[in-house]
Amino acid sequence: MKLLGLDREKVRNAIEKGRVTVAVYGLGKMGLPLAAVFAEHGAKVIGVDINENVVEMINRGENHVKEEPGLDELLKKNVEEGRLSATTDGVEAARKADVMVILVPTLTDERGNLKLDPVYDVAHKISQGLEKGDVVITEATMPPGTTESIIPILEESGLKIGEFGLGHAPERTMTGTAIRDITGQYPKIVGASDERTLEALIGIYETINRKGVIPMSSIKAAEAVKVFEGIYRDVNIALANELALWCEEHGLDALEVFKAANTQPYCHLHMPGAGVGGHCIPVYPWFVINLAGRTNPRLTKTAREINDSMPHHIVELVIKGLNEAGRPVKGSNVLVLGLTFRGGVREFMKAAAKPIIQELKEWGASVYAYDPLCTPEDAERFGATWKEDFKGVDVVVITADHREFKKLDLNRMSAEMRSKVIVDGRNVLDPEEVEKLGFGYFRVGRVRNP
Ligand SMILES: NC(=O)c1ccc[n+]([C@@H]2O[C@H](COP(=O)([O-])OP(=O)(O)OC[C@H]3O[C@@H](n4cnc5c(N)ncnc54)[C@H](O)[C@@H]3O)[C@@H](O)[C@H]2O)c1
Repeated sequence: MKLLGLDREKVRNAIEKGRVTVAVYGLGKMGLPLAAVFAEHGAKVIGVDINENVVEMINRGENHVKEEPGLDELLKKNVEEGRLSATTDGVEAARKADVMVILVPTLTDERGNLKLDPVYDVAHKISQGLEKGDVVITEATMPPGTTESIIPILEESGLKIGEFGLGHAPERTMTGTAIRDITGQYPKIVGASDERTLEALIGIYETINRKGVIPMSSIKAAEAVKVFEGIYRDVNIALANELALWCEEHGLDALEVFKAANTQPYCHLHMPGAGVGGHCIPVYPWFVINLAGRTNPRLTKTAREINDSMPHHIVELVIKGLNEAGRPVKGSNVLVLGLTFRGGVREFMKAAAKPIIQELKEWGASVYAYDPLCTPEDAERFGATWKEDFKGVDVVVITADHREFKKLDLNRMSAEMRSKVIVDGRNVLDPEEVEKLGFGYFRVGRVRNP
């Protein structure tokens, strides 16, 4: 059933009664949870992916996004009940669908230079099946102004914008909490090409999101919301890092100060640490920087510089720890715990471990690595040797907040390590407990001898 021209209540009713077909393009960490949630709320969902294995698994009711709690059951149930299926045929899916959601990767390098090929590929496929009254939505993160760049491709269908609707509804979530977030942790942000499409988007997302919808005045404004959220985090982490470095110089414990300061409702200091990784927070600032004309986004640029310098500071802490233990860096054994950019997710974009390992090797240290989500081959790619114990290790450096690292066996470490130094780049250990066992403990914003 076509949704353009219906009010939000009718849209909701049509979805819940099973009269609306939604095609979700891209069945990865974001797309698969979304497809399952739409199906759970009554829509007929066709998932589209270029990866045949992914499509086959989904049609068997098997989940390939293991990091997502609750997705196994949600997927299986909706496939078995016939509301969710998958295909590699994006054109056929577009012919059958009333709503097409684009949730493929928006590829960027570390400086936010974009490659929108997957988005354009999907837009071409949709244009071959597009019908009057259809609604096309980008949920993939798009720099402000980019969703509208697919209009000419969609118009290759012979239809003009207005005969079909275009909207943007950014994913405000992350791997591991997608189902929770898209069903009502935060309101959904939507922007659309015209009022009728906006009304349809409100109806669509009010159906699946208990927290409701915030309609924006334009697609570009909706795109900016998601990008600005990321930049806020990057700048705030940079501020936390800057103040933490100051605390180190002045013999203060930054976390103690931040915790107390944050009890006042206008203060939201974030966590200092080994650096900012992932596909989102360190990349979105570049969208704004790269698109800046007269504005010179100095603060955004400086924040990026500060956060990018933190892996180097971790190396400085390693050297300080070794000095205090009376051991030269050259010939020391350093074990890096965590190759991924954060805990619980096997993603490597801008992982702090990489520059840390490289710099320590330049100093002549032997560098080892372990990560519960990785393999010895991953360690090798990073330039380190896989190691699953602490024998002969001088310094343990924690670079990802995996659950396992929060409950390290400190007694075993104490017995096996050669010099007992810990550099906690993710603030996961309790300093008092660690120091009681005779370790030298260092973290960003807290050193023993300034
Ligand atoms: N992962 C996150 O935490 C997160 C959070 C917010 C927003 N996002 C955004 O969501 C989007 C998707 O991210 P993701 O993490 O789900 O990616 P992903 O890599 O987990 O999944 C992407 C899927 O798209 C498929 N795909 C690639 N090209 C395709 C094409 N041309 N046609 C059909 N399918 C195609 C891939 O095979 C893959 O299964 C990105 O724009 C990302 O920036 C991700």
